[in-house]
Amino acid sequence: MLRFLALILVIGSAFSAGTVSAEPSELQLLLQKNNCLACHMIDKRKYGPTLKEVAEKYAGDSGAVEKLAAKIKAGGTGVWGEDVMPPQAQVSDAEAQKIAKLVLSLQ
Ligand code: HEC
Repeated sequence: MLRFLALILVIGSAFSAGTVSAEPSELQLLLQKNNCLACHMIDKRKYGPTLKEVAEKYAGDSGAVEKLAAKIKAGGTGVWGEDVMPPQAQVSDAEAQKIAKLVLSLQ
């Protein structure tokens, strides 16, 4: 009987841990919707910086939300090397701001 209970506990905790990590965050959903994942992942390099690196670089920069929101829409190059980020005109101003805030809160 005790063994049976232990088994239930193990399965139960594995299940709840699984559902937590399988649930995409608000940031992941926005990145997916706006096609950012083609180039950026949160903590693995693909093309361009990881979003965690971006959060580290701008930590403590009070103008960073505005700066990054503008860059998300306009694209650009030269900050992280010579790779070019094309303009992401499909992103609304409100969404660009929201993504910038969520990226900056990573760490
Ligand atoms: C075709 C590839 C590509 C796509 C798609 C793309 N990016 Fe980028 N992104 C880059 C590259 C390359 C850089 C580095 C640019 C530089 O060095 O100035 C970059 C830089 C950034 C930065 C850091 C800007 C800075 O000046 O430090 C942020 C934030 C960012 N991207 C967010 C996004 C978001 C959000 C999306 C989706 C709406 C997106 N990117 C789509 C390639 C891409």
